[in-house]
Amino acid sequence: MQEEEHVSGLKTDLCKSGGTFCVLVGVTGSVAALKLPLLVSQLLQIPGVDVRVVTTEHAKHFYNSAEVSVKLYSDKDEWELWTQRTDPVLHIELRRWADLLVIAPLDANTLGKIANGICDNLLTCVVRAWDTSRPLLFCPAMNTAMWKHPITAQQVKGPWQRYRLLSALSISIFRNQMRHLRKHAHNIVLSIQLAPKQIET
Ligand SMILES: Cc1cc2nc3c(=O)[nH]c(=O)nc-3n(C[C@H](O)[C@H](O)[C@H](O)COP(=O)(O)O)c2cc1C
Repeated sequence: MQEEEHVSGLKTDLCKSGGTFCVLVGVTGSVAALKLPLLVSQLLQIPGVDVRVVTTEHAKHFYNSAEVSVKLYSDKDEWELWTQRTDPVLHIELRRWADLLVIAPLDANTLGKIANGICDNLLTCVVRAWDTSRPLLFCPAMNTAMWKHPITAQQVKGPWQRYRLLSALSISIFRNQMRHLRKHAHNIVLSIQLAPKQIET
């Protein structure tokens, strides 16, 4: 019974209405995650935009979920949803729903995992299953020592270049594909300044 409620709740929550632009925000365990409520509320101010959030467990430490006005999905939801073969798989439903994935903030740990194809939680599974014709924008946030470490440079450059389309990461593709949104969304992401810098591959 509880499982049926999970499935019907998901179907309702991820029901797309025509013309809506669906933004999935991924949030990881950086102190910058405290800006999640602000990021969500500013994205929601853009006409025609709908937002959902995928959070890692460590990210939860930094924000108050009561201040986030949209549905937050985490690992527990992924595992509770699936009990039998006919049940939906949450990370697949989320990648189907989202027109854009913004990972803000992207911490060093999740950057390293994504760069190596690891998918051991809901967020990294969404990324691993991502439709590379859709944009993925990421906003790294870490201590300067971590950012300047040679491993970071490798992880930001090398693996992403293999996925040419996943340089859908880049703001340039973000711009091209979402002409009607680009000014608002781009400015919002930049103005929130979660990251030391935006990366374009
Ligand atoms: C108070 C605190 C602040 C942190 N801030 C950052 C940060 O800004 N950037 C970062 O890469 N890691 C930061 N970390 C470390 C991550 O939280 C840690 O690597 C964690 O395992 C990340 O898990 P996740 O990627 O699954 O969210 C911080 C840890 C603590 C305790």
